[in-house]
Amino acid sequence: MSITIDFSGKTVVVIGGTSGINRGIAELFASHGARVAVASRSEEKVADTVSALKALGAEAKGFAADVRELPAIEAGLAEIHGAWGEFDVLVSGAAGNFPASLNGMSANAFRSVVEIDLMGTVHVMKASHAYLKKPGASVVNISAPQAFLPMPGQSHVSAAKAGVDMITRTLAIEWGAEGIRVNSVVPGPISGTEGMARLAPTEDAIGKVAASVPLGRLGTPDDIGHACMFLASDMGAYVSGAVLPVDGGWAQSGCGGMGMFLGKLVAQMEGR
Ligand code: HXC
Ligand code: NAP
Repeated sequence: MSITIDFSGKTVVVIGGTSGINRGIAELFASHGARVAVASRSEEKVADTVSALKALGAEAKGFAADVRELPAIEAGLAEIHGAWGEFDVLVSGAAGNFPASLNGMSANAFRSVVEIDLMGTVHVMKASHAYLKKPGASVVNISAPQAFLPMPGQSHVSAAKAGVDMITRTLAIEWGAEGIRVNSVVPGPISGTEGMARLAPTEDAIGKVAASVPLGRLGTPDDIGHACMFLASDMGAYVSGAVLPVDGGWAQSGCGGMGMFLGKLVAQMEGR
């Protein structure tokens, strides 16, 4: 079998695709021939990303919606389906994060991250199922190492992303008979992203995180995009239900003591 990475004629939808890692994923698919749709809350970020995707030569669309609002996601996805037909690839990566201890956050603060990361994933899965190509669609949920490695200040993210990975694994079974594959990609620390800015807010902290990665560097959005393209391509045809770390070996080293670092950061932020 000869395999090429060419997504010409394929429809790729990236929820939360207007900045950071997810935008990098959207741009990578666009530069490999796909027509790409993105969605997030900000009209401005959506418009900017659609322009950038078009500048790469791709057909592009977008809509503004909050993943916490099921009807808004349903309406946006229906519009993309109406214009382009079935989705070949769906990447779901909208997320929220801030470092705070459980005692240092309100129940509503915890809920807001669970609503975005976990319920947002539920909404995206439910709203997209009717439009996924059967057989053949590939769904990628963007997780985080906190899903399986506890870190101080990250109880909300751990709870939410662990749930995301269990949705991935469950849907691999429930949707497998329809020929839909469902996987999670677990990024390590990715340079220049909002997530890193929030959890490693100084140059010194970023340097220490980079040094703690077994491969000795931070990742890039392209590193994550390449894994998504593998999963979405014919090379990934027999991969479903996988929770795939793409992190230079970081999770195997307990994320290089990120938990200790975050514990100190959160204590400092909370005046303890
Ligand atoms: C304690 C906080 C807080 C903080 C917000 N809250 N920030 N509590 N410490 N630093 C509380 C608020 O007081 C409020 O609770 C509740 O959280 C909701 O806050 P809002 O601002 O009203 O919510 P909203 O506008 O919906 O914003 C959601 C958000 C925000 C998650 C709080 O930060 C956001 O939109 N983030 C999206 C971008 C992002 O986070 N990107 C990074 C993803 S990286 P009360 O009780 O006052 O109502 C990632 C993994 C990185 O996910 C892993 C790296 C290894
Ligand atoms: P980011 O730039 O903040 O990306 C988050 C995206 O989600 C943005 O497009 C944002 O756009 C959108 N979004 C946030 N809340 C939303 C909501 N309620 N409804 C709809 N869209 C929403 O963050 P990032 O650091 O690149 O992280 C991207 C993904 O990778 C996340 O799933 C994160 O958990 C994961 N991850 C990141 C790292 C890292 O090193 N950065 C490590 C591990 C995992 P709007 O603001 O316009 O809504």
